[in-house]
This record gives sequence, structure tokens and C-alpha cells, in this order.
Amino acid sequence: MSFPRQRPRRLRSTENVRKMVRETELSPDHLIAPLFLIEGKDIERPIQSMPGQYQLSVDRLEGWTEKLNESQVRAVLLFGIPALKDPEGTEAWREDGVVQRGITRLRQLSPNLVIITDVCLCAYTDHGHCGLVREGKVLNDETLPLLAKVSLSHAHAGADFVAPSDMMDGRVRAIRDALDEENFFDVGILSYAVKYASSFYGPFREAAQSSPSFGDRRTHQMDPANLFEALEEARLDLEEGADLLMVKPGLPYLDVIREVKRTFQRPLAAYCVSGEYAMVKAAAEKGWLEERTTALEILTSLRRAGADLVITYWSLDVAKWLAQGTR
Ligand code: PBG
Repeated sequence: MSFPRQRPRRLRSTENVRKMVRETELSPDHLIAPLFLIEGKDIERPIQSMPGQYQLSVDRLEGWTEKLNESQVRAVLLFGIPALKDPEGTEAWREDGVVQRGITRLRQLSPNLVIITDVCLCAYTDHGHCGLVREGKVLNDETLPLLAKVSLSHAHAGADFVAPSDMMDGRVRAIRDALDEENFFDVGILSYAVKYASSFYGPFREAAQSSPSFGDRRTHQMDPANLFEALEEARLDLEEGADLLMVKPGLPYLDVIREVKRTFQRPLAAYCVSGEYAMVKAAAEKGWLEERTTALEILTSLRRAGADLVITYWSLDVAKWLAQGTR
């Protein structure tokens, strides 16, 4: 017999009771904050389509490590915006490139911070593609050594994890081999294993100045219609030596997160991308949504779906928001 014996509302009667039976925990421990590093001095330039996010010069990082500390966020994901772009993206592996200097500075400022670096060429190539291009095609195998070089330069500078986001086949193996060859056994790989060709990256491409000058990314990023292919991508990357997997974007792909977590039971990150952030920001500006509760609901949902880690532009807000309660 169910009702009136079964009354689920009994477990929702007060905030204390609700907390006792809450199944999913969200805390700053699970968060990774993206940072955009730009060449130059004394720059803290707001990104129009991502309110609250900035392009930062390396000399401005001090203030940001304080913010990270205050908000109890333990990990960052670094993106670089170079001064010069060329067909190969050579700035991406320069020893004193903007990301490499950023890593060194962050390590000085915050020795225990987990430093993760995005590895891709799209912000560094003049054509805006994620690899070498010949006759309008993004080349796979020829791009792998370049991605390995970028990863090594980040490891030399002191990165804890490199995060290849290019979606070339075989890049995790190429990077693992290169790292091991130079004894960087302790540098891990967070693989953007399951990365869809998504419209939700729009605001990011303004932030990182990485829009392709022709064509799109559909020959390497995944078709949003595919779930089983995601499992194959994750399997391959684990085989090749990935330590952490990622599904990206987040909210439109909760089913994918769940399936990847269930299938492999490995540490999994979800990337709540720029478009997800921008949508909520825009609606909040109009007074149509409440940012704090909407964002907490999205981040909690990513965790509930199976993400251990969440990469989010809201990272610095979460601790303060949680202190105010989830409603
Ligand atoms: C680089 C890269 C992109 C994002 C992360 N790394 C853009 C893309 O693939 O076009 C998107 C992140 C976001 O939208 O927040 N390849």
C-alpha cells in the first residue's frame, strides 16, 4: 500500500532533513576554474560574452590566486592567447610562451594549486584550426608531434596535468610517450575524450580568439547525436594512457556523462562550457533567471549525472553561494 502510508514529503519538510537525505554533494573540491592568459602587461580585460571572466596578463595572477584561495578552489585550467599566430602555432610550445610563464608564476604564488593546461593549437594557428592544415584539411598524424611538444613544454614549466582538447586520434598516446621519454612520469593527462562539435563554444572562441577562419571542427569533434561513439572515444583514451576523462559540454550531455561514468568507473570531469555560462548570465541580466540558484542546480546536476569534477566559469562563486544555501 502506498499513499497515505508513503509520504515522500516527510523527507523534504525542513532544510536540515533535506540535507540529511541529499544524494549529491557539490563543493569547491570538485571544481576546476578556467583562466585565460594573454601576452602583455597589466591587462585584466573583461570578456564581453562571458561576464565575470577576463583575459589576464601573467603579472595580474597574484590577485587571482588570492581569489582562488578564498573560494577554496584547488585547480585551474589554463588557456593561452599568444601575441603572434602562424600556420603551425609555434607559440604554443615556446619555452617563455604565455602559458609556460603563467604556470611558473602560479607555482610560485600557490605551490599546492593543481595546474592543468589546455593543449590545442587553435588559439595559436593563424587559420584557427586545432592542428596542421593542408588543402583545407586538418591533418591528424602530422599534428601529433606538435601536441606532444606543447605538452612537454607545459610539463617543463611545472604543470600537473595536460589536457589535450584537439580531438586528434592517438594524441593521448603520443603525449604519454613524449612525457615518459623525458621522465615526466608524474605529469598526468586529463583527456577531453568525449568532445562534441558544439554550438555552445561560441563565447569561448571570442575569449580565446580561436575561431576557425574557414570550415568548422566537425571532422574531429563528435556529432552531438552520438552516445555509443562516446564510449569508444573514452575506451581508446584510457587504453592510450589517460588518467582523467572529460565529457564536454556538460548540461546538454548528462546522459553521456552517466554512461561514461557507469561504463568505465574512472574519474570523470564534465566541462560546463562558455555557452552554458553565457546563457544563464544573459537571462539573469534580464531578470529572467536567478543566477546563483540556477548555476548551483546545473553544477549539482552534472555531479548527479556522474561527474567527479566540474570545470566551470562559476568556480570562484560556488563557496560563497553554498554558504548562502542552495535556494
Ligand atoms: C580548444 C577548446 C575549446 C574549448 C575548450 N578548449 C573550443 C573549441 O573546441 O572550439 C571550449 C570551452 C568553452 O566553450 O568554454 N579546442
